[in-house]
Amino acid sequence: MQENELLEQILPTALYGSVVRTVGMTAAAADFPAPVGALAEIHRETGPPLLAEVIGFRDQLTLLYPLSRLSGVRRGNQVRLVRTARWLRVGRELLGRVINAHGEAIDGKPQPMLTDRVPFDRKPPEPCSRPRIDAPLATGIRAIDAMLTCGRGQRLGIFSGAGVGKSILLGMMARFTAADVIVIGLIGERGREVKDFIERDLGPQGLAKSVVIVATSNEPAVVRVQAASTATAVAEYFRDQGADVLLLMDSITRFAMAQREIGLAAGEPPTTRGYTPSVFALLPRLVERTGRAPEGSITAFYSVLVEADDPTEPIADAMRGILDGHIWLSRSLASRGHYPAVDVLESLSRLMPEVVPPRHLKAAHTIRELLAAYRDQEDLISIGAYRRGSNPTVDTAIELREDIHRLLRQGMEERSVFEEAQKSLLELADRAEQMRQGKKSAGGGGPAPAASGGRPAQQRPAAPSPS
Ligand SMILES: Nc1ncnc2c1ncn2[C@@H]1O[C@H](COP(=O)(O)OP(=O)(O)O)[C@@H](O)[C@H]1O
Ligand SMILES: [Mg+2]
Repeated sequence: MQENELLEQILPTALYGSVVRTVGMTAAAADFPAPVGALAEIHRETGPPLLAEVIGFRDQLTLLYPLSRLSGVRRGNQVRLVRTARWLRVGRELLGRVINAHGEAIDGKPQPMLTDRVPFDRKPPEPCSRPRIDAPLATGIRAIDAMLTCGRGQRLGIFSGAGVGKSILLGMMARFTAADVIVIGLIGERGREVKDFIERDLGPQGLAKSVVIVATSNEPAVVRVQAASTATAVAEYFRDQGADVLLLMDSITRFAMAQREIGLAAGEPPTTRGYTPSVFALLPRLVERTGRAPEGSITAFYSVLVEADDPTEPIADAMRGILDGHIWLSRSLASRGHYPAVDVLESLSRLMPEVVPPRHLKAAHTIRELLAAYRDQEDLISIGAYRRGSNPTVDTAIELREDIHRLLRQGMEERSVFEEAQKSLLELADRAEQMRQGKKSAGGGGPAPAASGGRPAQQRPAAPSPS
């Protein structure tokens, strides 16, 4: 534990103030100099004390954002500081359980016996103490493992509109990944969606290795924001035990919307789409807590809602800058029944070159080239105006189209094993290269190989992997 964390524990908590007024969702208290992030309780004439979080200050007053409805709060009500540092009880018993943002079980089973304690808001590990990411994490999704391999400790975004298959994809990852522990943060969804996800997409098999943290859309904004910290803190706990953790956060957009509510209530100036500066400060802080540590790793996937391909969506834009890769789910693929609807050409795993052998990387490049060649000529091909023989790469792309789709598609109940995905990719890329070379020589007198679309560097024969 760090010294400042210890210090926070011994700060005096005998601090009292009184409610002066309420503004929208917040209460303002006088003579109450508690720090931002502190937890206070407001005593009402009716009902139990109301818990609230300090979110800022204005005109000598301390702004409090309640963790439940403000009803019954009156001017003059007493406010008491409960604690400045927030802690979460954790332990291995959390596996298989569904908890809320405060760490309480909400799955109808008895509260788990938890022996350890961690802070909600931990500082990210020092950059220099972080080992390089050098090994792949098998996600259990063939399209990702083969074409967008992600490393242990990598942070990626899953970008898509609503109803394109995010929840099902996350559920498949939880069931099929090789990670030791899966931590799933469900933030800002409706209660029914949460129930569907846990019972249908995750199922008992996925739940067994998982901890699910839920804050639904009807919970107060501070609770929804806190749920993201809770999920990250649970992931940190398992990482510190040396586990390779997979953290799935659905969705980071709803987290940002909740922080926007708090920021506006605290009087922050709205910027793009009403998002306040604190939103953009908080996103990297949250994401930086994941990654690889000297012991263990947290590989994180954050889902980002992008409606109608809107490129000006500020949260999607900010996340793209923070993450080490993005996976784009395409509505047009989904509408053709191509699941998971991963649009490989629009997606990128920046750490893939570090975690797979050169042969794997080269094979993925080959398949990308074929996908790109097909996409560029798609209009001509679909109306029958493309003349076969005019371009060996396009010809190969047309002939192998079904095989490529077979590699990228995966049924909901179909488990993909990393080594098999890799093998299928290598075989397919070899066939593609042979086919393309054959077409080039059959074409006779055609252009030199380097001029036919592939970059010269990729034309080298595959070197054996050094690793
Ligand atoms: N791998 C898949 N195989 C078959 N159908 C799928 C698959 N993934 C998604 N779907 C279809 O898409 C619908 C929406 O998926 P869902 O994961 O709930 O979307 P989102 O979470 O993005 O809103 C599902 O109800 C299902 O019909
Ligand atoms: Mg969903």
